Amino acid sequence: MVRKKVYVTRKVPEPGLSMLSAECDVTMNKKPEPPSRKEMLRNVAGRDGILCMLSDRIDSRMMDAAGPSLKVISSYSTGFEHIEVKEATVRGIYVTYTSDTLAEATADMTFALILACARNIVNGDRLVREGRWKVGWAPDLMLGYNVHDATLGIIGLGRIGSAVARRAKGFGMKILYYSRNRNPKLEQELGVTYAGLDELLIRSDYVSIHASMNSASYHMIDREKLDKMKKTAFLINTSRGQVTNEADLARTLKSEQIAGAGLDVFEKEPLPKTSPLAKMKNVVLLPHIGSATHQTRSKMSEVAAKNLLDVLDGKQPDPAFLVNPQVRSVRPLH
Ligand code: GLV
Repeated sequence: MVRKKVYVTRKVPEPGLSMLSAECDVTMNKKPEPPSRKEMLRNVAGRDGILCMLSDRIDSRMMDAAGPSLKVISSYSTGFEHIEVKEATVRGIYVTYTSDTLAEATADMTFALILACARNIVNGDRLVREGRWKVGWAPDLMLGYNVHDATLGIIGLGRIGSAVARRAKGFGMKILYYSRNRNPKLEQELGVTYAGLDELLIRSDYVSIHASMNSASYHMIDREKLDKMKKTAFLINTSRGQVTNEADLARTLKSEQIAGAGLDVFEKEPLPKTSPLAKMKNVVLLPHIGSATHQTRSKMSEVAAKNLLDVLDGKQPDPAFLVNPQVRSVRPLH
């Protein structure tokens, strides 16, 4: 039997690569950075499957470059806004993703950011490390804000938002959420209260964004929305940078109209060195590592490889991981 050809755009953790290599001829970008557009256009040619990352734009031009052999695009990510899904569907290309595999790890990181912002974890570490801690214990040294008993506003109550809510319960927080669709069952299950976006922004001490990226969520948090937040509140974003207007956020932080922000995602990644955010003391910045634990990235690798292999083996991928179920009628599998 002819072995299928697969292109992998980054070296993902095991077991995904071994799973793919056992059945397919794998070409992989081994560099630590994403392949250039040109390199990718060249490397996808004649492949049956592509295993890609959120940093790889897969549009009609890329699909043209791959040619008619391409049956599956398996994204090693929860977001899939980098893929032209409609275009793939029309061409009978299955698009899969790793869905909620990263929900718990990302919720852990959200809490790490909440605590880091509220309790000066990063500034405190710098103070000690840089020999600037001169006074020993002091009654007013690095005063932060309570996390326990505070109000948390969750924007987007999907699997990650819900996992954040469960953690917040343990901290005794009051929890508000805003979502395009209200979910009374989940409200009861998690003990969370629905609020309109403005109301959530006005009332919350911590606002945490868990919305997926689409045309409705683009720049959803802009100057006008930031102006509604309390002066003592923090904004946390572990979803996508584009959900906030980053220039507006930088201005708001600079003028200390909110207390601070914890950001794992940015409009442009990596964050340009010239970004005003990089100079501010009231922000904690992370390099998009919300899901970066050994266990989660390894599970994502297994899921992404299985999704890809299922399609190439002529099996339906798990519906939980299939982005475009309509493709089934364009290219039926057994
Ligand atoms: C991470 O941001 C992902 O979409 O997997």
